[in-house]
Amino acid sequence: MGTKLCRTTSLRPALLSIMLAVLLPFSSCHEEKAIDKLESVERLVLTTVAGPESLAFDRRGEGPYTGVSGGRILKWQGKGRGWTGFAVNAGNRKECCDTSDVSLESMCGRPLGLQFHKATGVLYVADAYFGLLAVGPKGGAARRLAASADGGRFNFTNGVDVDQGTGEVYFTDSSTRYQRPDYILSVITGDSTGRLMKYDPRTRKVTVLRRGLPFPNGVALSGDGSFLLFAETGSCRVLKHWLRGPRTGAMEVFAELPGYPDNIRRTARGEYWIALNREKINLNDGVGVGVGVTEDEKATKGKAAATEHPVAVRLSGEGKVLEVLLDGGELASVSEVAEENGAIWIGSVELPYVEVYKL
Ligand SMILES: *[C@@H]1O[C@H](CO)[C@@H](O)[C@H](O)[C@H]1NC(C)=O
Repeated sequence: MGTKLCRTTSLRPALLSIMLAVLLPFSSCHEEKAIDKLESVERLVLTTVAGPESLAFDRRGEGPYTGVSGGRILKWQGKGRGWTGFAVNAGNRKECCDTSDVSLESMCGRPLGLQFHKATGVLYVADAYFGLLAVGPKGGAARRLAASADGGRFNFTNGVDVDQGTGEVYFTDSSTRYQRPDYILSVITGDSTGRLMKYDPRTRKVTVLRRGLPFPNGVALSGDGSFLLFAETGSCRVLKHWLRGPRTGAMEVFAELPGYPDNIRRTARGEYWIALNREKINLNDGVGVGVGVTEDEKATKGKAAATEHPVAVRLSGEGKVLEVLLDGGELASVSEVAEENGAIWIGSVELPYVEVYKL
């Protein structure tokens, strides 16, 4: 299924700049897998709503739970019962919210990041419009924990992770200037108003860890809680922010990516899955916005190759690219890859289902 690839320079020159622009960070050997060749175990289909962006499993390993259009958080109950409602934000939600109509989002809310604190069973939610929310293990109405920090309101709360030891919650606000429907503008204008923050459940205070970021997105703590990784979508990178030890507060580049990263999930082995929204656009090369190649290059590459693009990468605990998942087109805008129960679960802010593949 997978093929070991070591990039060589035997590619045709016309293609070379494109391939290098996309693959230069991957000078070392890594595995590439075409996702449509993996064995699909199950498709968890949603009805009326869409866009399962983030996936979380509770302390009993049940789920996934996911946030969808219309503002609800749903729980997967297995094949027989399918999806059931778990939580809603306590804002101005109305019956008419349960659709995939993006124009209702600011009223209905849009949960993007999800993570459980396993010790207490509390689910933390980063809702794009309502800020950081929390709901107990039985679900119901989520309460708002924070909607601003240092006097600045959140405009695009996005990713969240929880330190399972201390219970501290790390989350991002992707932009102060733009809201979710305009995320493309935030990326192409180089808007750098995003922030990385910490919420302390004991003091109920929010601390700003980093500001001035170009579209900070998903976050994931290391296994020992010594550092935090966050996806910087605007720069196609994963950054590492030290939380403990001699470099506390310092930041460094953890990995460069062939696309725009969304959520990050740590695996039980201490590796990280980074979902890629779309392939990197190299503006200098005039590369087409759609699939990352121009019409000419599409013709050169042939149809199959032209539409195959990276949708996720698996990184080692040191930031080395171990694997790239490629897709031939069906998986639009992958938002999250979660590894659980011997499978990978793939969420997308655009699709009306979660796809599960055997590893
Ligand atoms: C929040 O986003 C909206 C919509 O993009 C924008 O009109 C508003 O000015 C933003 N808020 C701030 C404080 O920039």
